[in-house]
Amino acid sequence: MSTLSLSVPSSLTDFSARLIAWQRTHGRHDLPWQNTRDAYRIWLSEIMLQQTQVSTVIPYYERFLGRFPDVAALAAAPLDDVMALWAGLGYYSRARNLHRCAQTVVEQHGGAFPVSVEALAELPGIGRSTAAAIASFAFGARATILDGNVKRVLARVFGVEGFPGEKRVENAMWTLAESLLPSAANDDDVSAYTQGLMDLGATLCMRGKPDCARCPFAADCVANVTGRQRELPVARPKKAIPTRRTWMLVLRDGNAVMLEKRPPSGIWGGLWSLPEASGEAALAERAEGYGASGSMMPLATLTHTFTHFRLDIEPRVVDLGNLRATLASVGDDQTVWVALHELDAYGVPAPVRKLLDAMQGSLL
Ligand code: ADE
Repeated sequence: MSTLSLSVPSSLTDFSARLIAWQRTHGRHDLPWQNTRDAYRIWLSEIMLQQTQVSTVIPYYERFLGRFPDVAALAAAPLDDVMALWAGLGYYSRARNLHRCAQTVVEQHGGAFPVSVEALAELPGIGRSTAAAIASFAFGARATILDGNVKRVLARVFGVEGFPGEKRVENAMWTLAESLLPSAANDDDVSAYTQGLMDLGATLCMRGKPDCARCPFAADCVANVTGRQRELPVARPKKAIPTRRTWMLVLRDGNAVMLEKRPPSGIWGGLWSLPEASGEAALAERAEGYGASGSMMPLATLTHTFTHFRLDIEPRVVDLGNLRATLASVGDDQTVWVALHELDAYGVPAPVRKLLDAMQGSLL
C-alpha cells in the first residue's frame, strides 16, 4: 500500500491557535456535558453523540444522569433498565457496550476511567476518536479526534484528495490531525481545540451548505478558495460492477426472427429473448441444434447495465434465407417466430428489443 503524505502550508501553521480563538468566541459553551471534567459524564455524552445529533441527545443524557449519576450506578443496573432508558436513540449496540464498559471500569479500573487514550480505546464501545475526545476533555490529554465531521473539515481546509473512508487516506488524516494539535502547555487549550473541531464541523463546515463567510480558515481553505466545497471530501467511490458477456443468436428468416422463452426465474424471467450461449462456439452449436448451419455474422457489441453487473451482448446473425420451414424447432412452445414489426405483442428485454429494432431499421 502506497502511503499518502499531507502537508501543512505555512499559511496554516497557526491552525490550532486560530481554531481555539474561534471556539472561545463563536463555539458552543453551554452544552450539558461541557464545563465538567467528570470522565463519566463526558464518556456518556460522547457515546450518545456518536451517531446522534445534539438536540436528540440532550433529554436522553439528562435522564441517564438522573437515573445513573455515576459509573457504579450504571454498572450495577440491570441491562434491561439501561436498554429501556436508551429506547429511541437507536444503534442499540451502543447501549449494550455502554453497560459492559461501565462494568469493566468498575471491575478492572476501580471505578475510575483510565487516563490514557490507549487504555480508554480498549474499553467496549470506545474507538480511537472517542478515546481522544474523552482524554482531551476530561484529562487535558494532547490527543486528536477524527470523526466524520473532522474528516470533512480537514479534507476541505487542506484539500485532501481521496475518499476519507479509505485506509490510506484515513491514516494520512490521522497523521495530519496529530500534527495540528496545539502544544501541551495548557489543558484548557486542548479541550477548546477538540471542541473547536467539533463546533466548526457542526455549525459552519456542514456537509450541505457550509457557511464559509464566517469561517476562520476561509482565506486559506483549499475547498473555499477553489470553490470545491461540494467535491471535498471526496465521496465514496462507486463500486465497480462486474461485467458478464453473453452471445445471442439472431436466427433471421426474411423479416422474422426466432425468439425463445426464458426460464421463469433469473434475469428477464419469462420474457421472450434470443437464444444465448456463453461463447462463440457454443452459440454455433445451438444454431446447429436448430438446424441452422449457415455462417454467423457478428453485429456490434451491445452493453446493458443492470444494478449489480454489466452485460456485454455479442449478437451473431444467421440468415436462413426464407427456409425456416426446414428447421426442427418450429411449433415448440418455447420458441416463436415473430415478424420484426410485431415485436410489441411479446415481452422482449429492452436491450434485445433495441438490437432487433436497429435490425429492422436496417432492413427498411
Ligand atoms: N459530537 C461528538 N461529541 C460532541 C461534543 N462533545 N459536543 C458536541 N457535539 C459532539
